[in-house]
Amino acid sequence: MPVLPTDWQSRVAFDRSHVWHPFTPEKDHVADPPVPVIGAEGVDYLLADGRRVLDGISSWWCNIHGHGHPRLVSALERQAGRLDHVMFAGFTHEPALELAARLRPRLPQSLTRCFFSDDGSTAVEVALKMAFQAQLQKGENGRTRFGALSDGYHGDTLGAVGVGELDNWLTGLFRPLLLACDRLVVPEDPRYEINPQDSPPRLERAIAEIREFFYEHGSGMAAFIAEPLVQGAGGMRFWAPELLAEIRKQCDSCGVYLILDEVMTGFGRTGRFLAIDTCGVAPDFLCLAKGLTGGMLPLALTWTTDTVYELFWGDASEGRTFYHGHTHTANATACAVACASLSLFDNEPVIACAEKLSCTMREAWTQLADHPSIRRARTLGCIAAAEIVDPRTGRPHDPALRYGWKLHRKALDHGLLIRPMGDCLYLMPPLVTPLERVHESVEVIAKLL
Ligand SMILES: Cc1ncc(COP(=O)(O)O)c(C=O)c1O
Repeated sequence: MPVLPTDWQSRVAFDRSHVWHPFTPEKDHVADPPVPVIGAEGVDYLLADGRRVLDGISSWWCNIHGHGHPRLVSALERQAGRLDHVMFAGFTHEPALELAARLRPRLPQSLTRCFFSDDGSTAVEVALKMAFQAQLQKGENGRTRFGALSDGYHGDTLGAVGVGELDNWLTGLFRPLLLACDRLVVPEDPRYEINPQDSPPRLERAIAEIREFFYEHGSGMAAFIAEPLVQGAGGMRFWAPELLAEIRKQCDSCGVYLILDEVMTGFGRTGRFLAIDTCGVAPDFLCLAKGLTGGMLPLALTWTTDTVYELFWGDASEGRTFYHGHTHTANATACAVACASLSLFDNEPVIACAEKLSCTMREAWTQLADHPSIRRARTLGCIAAAEIVDPRTGRPHDPALRYGWKLHRKALDHGLLIRPMGDCLYLMPPLVTPLERVHESVEVIAKLL
């Protein structure tokens, strides 16, 4: 007796009776039920009704090498058969060590210690807790607040929500439960726009504002957190590397740790291995997840320095231990897949591929930039973004119309998975996407707009 009915209509009815999906008003699924996906090949998903769609957003920004890459699949199978998982407290294993050994040379030299966790949110939680505890163990008891960028996003657990933007649809309502956090506004950088309206970038004013922010809040902050170069869920805001360098400087002079969240920007997404490779800024904590396993399995890392690590050194009775861990910390199977993904970066031209993809995305997005429904078309590496407007008024559509959601559903009929965030339309396909598929996708978007 099969557990599920054999037809997809009944299976979707089962889904509607028992399953709750992320980041979607469940009521939307009355008219537009969840789409059954039965397989994936390369950069495409295969839908149950026979449609084939390009994964235009790398399945929430995690897929790097396409789906089901044979080297990742065989690493998964091999490792699961040998040692699927062992708790990491008091034990260690080859895939975790190999992963640390493969990544270390690709990071700033000062980042020497890694702590494993499960996803982007937990990588951020680890960094926040470690930074706070490190300050306490230095005797800095008054540092009970954090600093962050306005429009930031660092995940959905409460610590991560507390340092994300609160004045938007993602997190606002949890305000009474959150960490104390002061927010700094940085301007978007018009140098990434295809038809910049605003030039040159207002760097001097922004640098002065950063200095004022740290003058006001620096002595009470344990750490400052930012997504380097690209604020993803905050609306694909591209910001200037010069400002990140200034934030680093201010953190140093105020004794504040700098946490950089490369959960989205890591692993080639910006055209370099890490976004910080563009600006030469080394953080005290670096958060990695999503693309760490090429997007195949959940796994995360928080890297930090020897100086931080030494603050946790001591006998159990001294109370300096970092008492944090998750059941699947350093899951051996996920670590083996991450090693296979990094070996592709080492042995195949993944970054060269990302550079070509960046150029093609810029070219294709340039064609879209003058569309009457588009404003502020911009690209940074393999990320292209723009604001959708009503062509009759030049202003955003009424949110009640759910324009972005409708565009997402319509695009599926034309072989493309995109999922605008409010008015923000973006394309962020796997790094190996064939270049002609980028042009085709942009033609689909232009037609649907
Ligand atoms: C910059 C950034 N940090 C953290 C997260 C949270 O990652 P996860 O969804 O894996 O918890 C995200 C997710 O989109 C992200 O973009």
